[in-house]
Amino acid sequence: MCVYEITGGRPLAGQLTVQGAKNSVLPILAASILAPGESVIHNCPDLSDVSATLDILRLLGCGVRREGHTVRVDASTLGESRIPDQLMGELRSSVVFLGALLSRCGGAELAYPGGCELGPRPIDLHLMALQTLGAEIEEEQGRLRCRWGPGMSGRELYLSIPSVGATENAILAACGCWGVTTIIGAAREPEIEDLQAFLQAMGAEVTGAGTSTIVVAGGGQLHPAEHTVMGDRMAAATYLCAVGAAGGCVRLRGVEPRHLTAVLSVLEEAGADVQADREGISIACAEPLCGVRPVRTAPHPGFPTDAQAPLMAALCGGTGTTMFVENMFSSRYRHVGELVRMGADIQVDGRVAVVTGRHLRGAGVRGTDLRGTAALVVAALAAKGTSQVSGIRYIRRGYQDLEGALSTLGADIKLTEE
Ligand code: UD1
Repeated sequence: MCVYEITGGRPLAGQLTVQGAKNSVLPILAASILAPGESVIHNCPDLSDVSATLDILRLLGCGVRREGHTVRVDASTLGESRIPDQLMGELRSSVVFLGALLSRCGGAELAYPGGCELGPRPIDLHLMALQTLGAEIEEEQGRLRCRWGPGMSGRELYLSIPSVGATENAILAACGCWGVTTIIGAAREPEIEDLQAFLQAMGAEVTGAGTSTIVVAGGGQLHPAEHTVMGDRMAAATYLCAVGAAGGCVRLRGVEPRHLTAVLSVLEEAGADVQADREGISIACAEPLCGVRPVRTAPHPGFPTDAQAPLMAALCGGTGTTMFVENMFSSRYRHVGELVRMGADIQVDGRVAVVTGRHLRGAGVRGTDLRGTAALVVAALAAKGTSQVSGIRYIRRGYQDLEGALSTLGADIKLTEE
């Protein structure tokens, strides 16, 4: 088994171009099936979740070619609308193929999606949105069979929680549905704006992404398009937290600062010197981070749940006390026990975790989800001595060459065979 061997205590310095956004590229790849012909997607990160999505596209009959960070998807030959359980189980966002297949083929058959274990991750809102638009959905032995019913048409639909995936599924299905769909209570995440930009380039009439009301005038003929995926705000947040933990001075390019307002303001409050401009973000940390006011995770533009674990790791080796309230997922403190093995002082009670900064020491620790494993890497960069961090397969889902990027910045990190 591969592990990261990390010796902490080396400040980070230099520049980094942030990878393309995982949470953006996955729905965009699914959207590429909406029109026959070849769509070209640039800035596709090299991640196992992207490879799994490309496998789904191939299985559906699409021609898929990858040249570096550009992926060409030819959806002319799409001939299948069923996705086998094993591929569905590999990643959560495979569920957006439901809306995309419904739009293009009028039906889809797939299993419940997989993804990181963060507590129950229902898809009731996805199904409700598709049913509101007139989809008939049957469930049999864990597989979902979905097709347009006679009442299919654009409608007003309301999401009781601003779910990112349900918003994306509703947009994709609405593109293939005659009439106007208005999604009220939509998620406002920047990745939905990126999906909208790709769909608009395909000729779709979608507006309002980035706000809580999205309007889709569906049923029009779409064509293939070319698009460059936005920078990954969660990878950027992780690198910023790494500098917060290890100290140093780093400039990140290829990421939009306005996507990270909540994270940047917390890091500033914790004592980091943060400068943002049109080309990127610079962070300098001369002293260990200090405790901040309570950090409550919330839908965008609130503090993102995906940055909770890396920030907690950065604060563990600092000074002062910080309270975290995790409002998005019920099992998102799985990194806490491992941070405690590195000497962290963290008290958890339900959704609340209270962190008091103190010196960390290197230890053998095991990651069990994507952001939690990244948090262990962040903590190891601050710890005295050497840590072995396992769970590399989770890192591969969301970070492109994390070890290479951190090495470039001066970290002592090696991928070794345990
Ligand atoms: C997306 C992101 C993930 C991020 C999360 C929250 C992708 C590929 N993943 O996940 O990185 O952590 O947003 O920002 O984009 N919910 C329901 N019923 C549903 C759907 C969701 O109750 O049908 C609940 C969830 O349990 C959760 C909340 O809504 O508590 C938000 O989840 P959602 O926004 O759907 O997350 P994902 O799209 O899965």
